[in-house]
Amino acid sequence: MDNNFGPNVHIMDHPLLTHKISLLRDKHTGTNEFRKLVEEIGMLMGFEALSDLPVQDVEIETPIEKTTVKMLAGRKLAIVPILRAGLGMVSGLTSLVPSAKIGHIGMYRDPDSHEPIEYFCKLPDPIEERLIVLCDPMLATGGSAIDAIHQIWKHGGRKIKFICIIAAPEGLKKAARACPDVQFYVGNLDRCLNENAYICPGLGDAGDRIFGTK
Ligand code: PRP
Ligand code: URA
Repeated sequence: MDNNFGPNVHIMDHPLLTHKISLLRDKHTGTNEFRKLVEEIGMLMGFEALSDLPVQDVEIETPIEKTTVKMLAGRKLAIVPILRAGLGMVSGLTSLVPSAKIGHIGMYRDPDSHEPIEYFCKLPDPIEERLIVLCDPMLATGGSAIDAIHQIWKHGGRKIKFICIIAAPEGLKKAARACPDVQFYVGNLDRCLNENAYICPGLGDAGDRIFGTK
């Protein structure tokens, strides 16, 4: 779908995806259902974001005859959730590519400045050769996404796809401009940020809703 954010931004807006995101937004959706929905959305978004994975010819034998079929070329994928909330999307993504390696980037927003504070980074080796699927349900100011991408670059990672369920226009614009070589996949684009840098209408605090904390 065309948008004003540039060629590296893909806003999905698929009705099935949007329906699930609408269920997530509802404040009456409890932790159990919320978690299940985030997992399913991770899978649906990963399916779309990975539609350009390379394939190669492989010879096999069906019960009828020998044939040449297409199979995924190589196994060099890394899934990297931004902790905590990104963790909720990992099982949906690994159900698509079970052989993927998993890295973790730990980050939280300072409640006053809204700046991201990093507390952990462990990426699979060698990261340079892998396609990296970075995931986080929310892109608000864009600070966490940009910092996580910088971390990956610092470790040598280059080919990155960032998947988020909901983005705010201001943060998405900033992140897409700061990281033009990263492909951004967005489930729904929301209206704006509020004075606390929360996405409106959004879904609240994704980490708290996934893990049942407050
Ligand atoms: C949330 C969310 C993103 C970040 C987005 O994490 O999961 O990582 O905020 O905001 P930004 O675009 O303004 O940086 P949070 O800091 O709440 O940490 P948590 O996942 O541990 O709850
Ligand atoms: N982080 C969240 O979890 N939700 C928002 O709306 C903004 C940042």
